[in-house]
Amino acid sequence: MSGNAVRIVEVGPRDGLQNIKDVVPTATKIELIRRLAQTGLRTIEATSFVSPKWVPQLSDARDVMESMRSSVVQGDVSYPVLVPNMKGLEAAMVLGVQEIGIFLSATDGFSRNNINCSVEESLVRARAVVDKARGQGIRVRGYLSCVVDCPYDGRTSPATVLNMAKKMLDMGCFEISLGDTTGTATPKDVRRLLEILLREIPAVKLAGHFHDSYGQAVANVKEAYQIGIRAFDSSVGGLGGCPYSPGAKGNVATEDVVYLFENMGIDTGVDLTKLANIGDWISQQLRTPNGSQVGAAFVAS
Ligand code: HMG
Ligand code: MG
Repeated sequence: MSGNAVRIVEVGPRDGLQNIKDVVPTATKIELIRRLAQTGLRTIEATSFVSPKWVPQLSDARDVMESMRSSVVQGDVSYPVLVPNMKGLEAAMVLGVQEIGIFLSATDGFSRNNINCSVEESLVRARAVVDKARGQGIRVRGYLSCVVDCPYDGRTSPATVLNMAKKMLDMGCFEISLGDTTGTATPKDVRRLLEILLREIPAVKLAGHFHDSYGQAVANVKEAYQIGIRAFDSSVGGLGGCPYSPGAKGNVATEDVVYLFENMGIDTGVDLTKLANIGDWISQQLRTPNGSQVGAAFVAS
């Protein structure tokens, strides 16, 4: 990957499907992953090994991972999963998962609502999970939520985010994905945050994870790119949202991110036509409007 190219982490099958009210058949999830794996995407977050009482939408995590072994492109595509605790890690390890994502919050309010513990407790829990995973050769990505705003505690200070991100890197995460969980951030917030983080953390250790509640996500991606970030999470068809972040909309659409970068002459490695067709297909399956403006325009043209 050249210094200008970006790495896209497709989070549609996980972030995208965790907040859908209707039951999505396991076969549809597997088919979504199978199609995404043929677009040039190299990282597709497949599901979460979380408590089915908390997120019933992903209670088929084991079935998804088991079926993928036979029906989904393997090779150079990786399929990380989220795990909240040791129980989730152990379930993922049985299935031979090579990469996990742990998820913490910069704020206590979201932490308590999302994973039922304080930030301090979450660090202790996460450290044990990371140690065990790395001991088994499993890579660990860290998600840090509420980096600009929290649905329960209000605005987050960049100093708090810096402190948490450093702790997560020190415990062994290879990268920290910075979550604008509420989708309220604007480019000014993104610049202010990153200017502070980049004084102490190299850009290659950070990724952007922008939700699009206020329509600012593409602008936030571009701002973060200009400051040096080269990894971005996005979701086909703009699916997504966290059940514990009321009102938050989907992630920035992968189609929109690919369109932006390819038209800036920046390589994403992703085939936009194939992706747009998948966004159209999954929106139809879920009976939701296509959340990608680029995808909808592509399919209509
Ligand atoms: P808890 O209730 O404190 O956990 O929840 P517990 O240990 O007391 O267990 C309660 C029950 O859950 C027990 O079952 C456990 O066995 C079971 P029971 O004995 O009552 O039948 N359980 C599990 N089952 C399956 N897999 C597991 C597991 N753990 C416990 N791993 C817990 C604590 C962390 C488990 C819960 O709060 C949870 O699962 N939370 C997940 C919430 C979630 O997935 N949120 C969305 C992902 S984060 C996100 O979207 C943000 C992100 O996109 C970035 C951004 O946008 O900012 C990443
Ligand atoms: Mg998210």
